[in-house]
Amino acid sequence: MIIFARGARTARMAVIAAAAALAVPLVVAPPAAADSPLRVHAAARGKFIGYAANTGPLANETAYRNIAATEFNQVTAENAMKWDSTEPSDGNYTFAGADQVVAFATANNQQVHGHTLVWHSQTPGWVQGLSATAMRTAMQDHIATVAGRYANNPALVSWDVVNEVFDDNGNMRTSFWYNTLGASYIADAFRYARAADSNARLCINDYNVEGINAKSTAMYNLVRQLRADGVPVDCVGFQGHLAIQYGFPSQVQQNMERFAALGVQVRVTELDVRMQMPRDSSKDTTQATYYRNVVQACLAVTACAGITIWGFTDKYSWVPDVFGGEGAALPWDANYSPKPAYTAIHDALDDGSGPGPDTTPPTTPGTPTASGVTSSGVSLSWAASSDAVGVTGYDVLRATGASGGTFAVVGTPTSASFVDSGLAASTTYRYQVRARDAAGNLSALSPVVSVTTTAGGGGPGPGPSSCRVAYTISPWGGSSGFTAGVTLTNTGTSTLSGWTLAFSLPTGQRITPPGWSATWSQSGQAVTATPLSWNSTLAPGGSTTIGFNGTHTGGTGEPTTFTVGGSSCTVV
Ligand code: XIL
Repeated sequence: MIIFARGARTARMAVIAAAAALAVPLVVAPPAAADSPLRVHAAARGKFIGYAANTGPLANETAYRNIAATEFNQVTAENAMKWDSTEPSDGNYTFAGADQVVAFATANNQQVHGHTLVWHSQTPGWVQGLSATAMRTAMQDHIATVAGRYANNPALVSWDVVNEVFDDNGNMRTSFWYNTLGASYIADAFRYARAADSNARLCINDYNVEGINAKSTAMYNLVRQLRADGVPVDCVGFQGHLAIQYGFPSQVQQNMERFAALGVQVRVTELDVRMQMPRDSSKDTTQATYYRNVVQACLAVTACAGITIWGFTDKYSWVPDVFGGEGAALPWDANYSPKPAYTAIHDALDDGSGPGPDTTPPTTPGTPTASGVTSSGVSLSWAASSDAVGVTGYDVLRATGASGGTFAVVGTPTSASFVDSGLAASTTYRYQVRARDAAGNLSALSPVVSVTTTAGGGGPGPGPSSCRVAYTISPWGGSSGFTAGVTLTNTGTSTLSGWTLAFSLPTGQRITPPGWSATWSQSGQAVTATPLSWNSTLAPGGSTTIGFNGTHTGGTGEPTTFTVGGSSCTVV
């Protein structure tokens, strides 16, 4: 049905505000003074630094995956290796989530801690109702199958064999395990785990055992007794679910040391530091101190293998679900920006024995060049800076007037160009730029460029835009139908997500629903297209082609102006 393609295409410049309107915040802000990821510094100190993996974002969320891959050298599955995930019904094993975590860890050179083989929570009802004999058999089968699956996998180095076997007063928790099998289930679980995996470190794990108290002392006595009995317990995990309103536990380092003296490895397995919401900077500071104290305690104890943080972003944390009114427990906020807690962990790990701090600023950027000057905006670009580690972005500073005034930052692009908008007509502005690196070093300021906006009154003049549209209309021969295609390209430097494309069809043209590759709607001659899930995100340079069939009453003209997010696109 397509009869002919559109003829000559006319390039038209569009209004200047488009790039600014399309700019979305950087997903991952580089941490100030962070010269290397946590894992580099931890490794230099002989420790691991890990996170609990949530398999949802681990599968498909780029910002999550990037931090998980680059900052950590250890991982624990937050839920995917628990009994209800791995053996939801008797003898039916599912390892999709567990394997996903192990595969990601393997791809990123991370060690995996298995969590957890025997626990009273997240264990299906069918286990809880078994007789003593059947329950012991079920436990043995489960351990043999789950631990056995990864026994020869070099990524999986340790297991929580039992989890949370104590009450806070130091008595044995009267879980269904204890009530059915007595305390012997603990030794049995360790022996079954050793039989299933002869190399993994086998751990006992609990909460509220970080400092010296009745519960940690009960744990200490149990570990000592088990080892005296020849039970293969070779690691003790302190969960580390802390809260700033309850104070920092006392004698954390000494507690680690007394366990270490038993000959076991120790580790912090589930560190988070929650606070009563709302979050504020003073709470952030206290939280950072808690994180730092934990890291320093581990660093001070040779037997402490490392620290696992229970998640890493407030976007995915168990805290708000479990502790009413509390949250913000992790080192990255819900937008993946590092918090003071991140810097505290980083700086505690970084004693200078790893890669030294980067104190060298980037080179000075070139003088900005102005183009596309309109009555309300200007496009600037400049010769890029270089840096020993890497330029992470630029500050664009502006002062009003041909002289005098104060330069203030008006933009922080990540590459060497910027579109300024919202300017007054017939006004002179001065611009200069400087570069930033990941450690926060700033270059010297570039020379100044002066720009005078045009008089205005004639509507938006030509200027750069952050989107480009190529529109084709193919009339159907001998009828009033046509097919139209629109290729939308993100010409900006930021990812475009959840876009809305709007334009006006010439009089007499109507879309015949539904169209394709977008959700189309028409009101009068105004048309909007919103993306489907698969094309809702356009990376810089990315494009998508959408289209529709339509009818006309004779005219097969084309729309002239296309906007995304209200800003005009270049039309080609
Ligand atoms: C939590 C997870 O974070 C949640 O997603 C889940 O709903 C419940 O369990 N101690 C442990 C962890 O040993 O397994 C728990 O993880 C947190 C407390």
